[in-house]
Amino acid sequence: MRTIAINEIGATPAAMNLPDPEPGPAQSRVKIIAAGLNPLDWKIADGALKDSVPYTFPLVLGVDGAGVVDAAGPDARFGVGEQVFGRFFGVSRGVGTYAEYAIATEDDAVIPIPEGMLYTKAAALPTAGMTALKVVEEAGVGQAGVEDGKSVLIVGATGGVGRPAVRLAASRGATVIATARPNSAAAMRELGAAETIDHGRGDLREQVRAVRRDGVDAIIDLVSDRTAAERLAALLRPGGVYVSTVWAVNPDALEAQEIRGVNLDYTPTTDLLQRAVELVEAGDMRIEVEEEIPLKEAPAALTRSRTGTSSGKTVIRL
Ligand SMILES: NC(=O)c1ccc[n+]([C@@H]2O[C@H](COP(=O)([O-])OP(=O)(O)OC[C@H]3O[C@@H](n4cnc5c(N)ncnc54)[C@H](OP(=O)(O)O)[C@@H]3O)[C@@H](O)[C@H]2O)c1
Repeated sequence: MRTIAINEIGATPAAMNLPDPEPGPAQSRVKIIAAGLNPLDWKIADGALKDSVPYTFPLVLGVDGAGVVDAAGPDARFGVGEQVFGRFFGVSRGVGTYAEYAIATEDDAVIPIPEGMLYTKAAALPTAGMTALKVVEEAGVGQAGVEDGKSVLIVGATGGVGRPAVRLAASRGATVIATARPNSAAAMRELGAAETIDHGRGDLREQVRAVRRDGVDAIIDLVSDRTAAERLAALLRPGGVYVSTVWAVNPDALEAQEIRGVNLDYTPTTDLLQRAVELVEAGDMRIEVEEEIPLKEAPAALTRSRTGTSSGKTVIRL
C-alpha cells in the first residue's frame, strides 16, 4: 500500500510502499479515504513520544483518519462495510493513517461516521475537536469559574485546535479574545471572537491590556513557550486559569499567583470523540477543512506545519 512513513526517528517523512496491515482478532482494517494532519504527526517523527511509547519501523505517520472497514477480526468492534473515523494510535505497531489502510484496535477512539458527515470533515475532527473540548473545559468556560461574559484569551486561535476552541468558548458564553493576523481576523469574529489581536504585530500582553485593562479570566494557549507564557500569565486575575497544550506553564509558580496552571494531557476516548461530534452537529463547535491534498504532498504539508506556515486543518485524500 502507499504510505508516508519514516525508517528512524528524525528521518524526513517519505513515500513508501509497504505491505497492507492485517487486523488482529479484535481489530478492524480501515480503507482510509481521508487522513487529518496534526502537528503531533511531525512531533512523533521527531521522536517526541520515544520515552513513553516503543516505536516500530517503518512507522507510518498519522493518527486521525476516516474510511470504510474492509477486513475485521472475529471480535472486532466494527465489521466490513462500516464507515468509521477517529484517532488511530499505532506508533508501537508502525501503522498510521497516512496510508491506504489503517488498523482500529479496541483502544482507539474510533466511532461510526455520523450520517451526512463528509470523510474529509470526519478526518479533520478527532484531535482538533477533542482537544478543543478539553481546553475549553479545563479553562472552566461554561462552568463555575468562568461564568457568562467572562473573558478568555486564546493564543494560536487560528489553528486546527484554536478555531473550534474559539467557537465553543464563545457559544458557552465567554468573551473571547483571539490572536489572528489581519487576514484571519474576520474569520475569528465569525466564529464568535469579540476581539482579535495581531500576534504578528508586537507584544501580545500590551495588546490584550489595550482591550481588557483588567486582564482576563482564562488563557488557552496553543503556541507560547515557557518564557512567553510567563509573560502572558500576568494578564490573569487571581483565581484565573492558564491552559497550555504545549506544556509551557509551571503550575507551582502560577499557584503562588493564585492561578491554576494546566499542561494539557488527556486520553482520547470514544466518549470524548462522541461529545465533540455532538457539539459540531449542534453548531457549538466548528471543524473547517482549510486544504485538501493528495498523499504525495503530505511531506511538504508536514514541513509547512512544522515551520508554522499552515493555517487551519489540512486533510490528506487517499
Ligand atoms: N497536549 C495535547 O494533548 C495536545 C493536543 C493537540 C494539540 N496539541 C499541540 O497544540 C499545538 C496547536 O495545535 P494545532 O493543531 O492547533 O496547530 P496548528 O493548526 O499548526 O495551529 C497553530 C496556529 O498558531 C498560530 N500561531 C503561531 N505562532 C503564534 C503566536 N506566536 N501567537 C499566536 N498564534 C500563533 C498559527 O497562526 P499563524 O500562522 O497565522 O501565525 C496557527 O494558526 C501544537 O503544538 C500541538 O502539537 C497538544
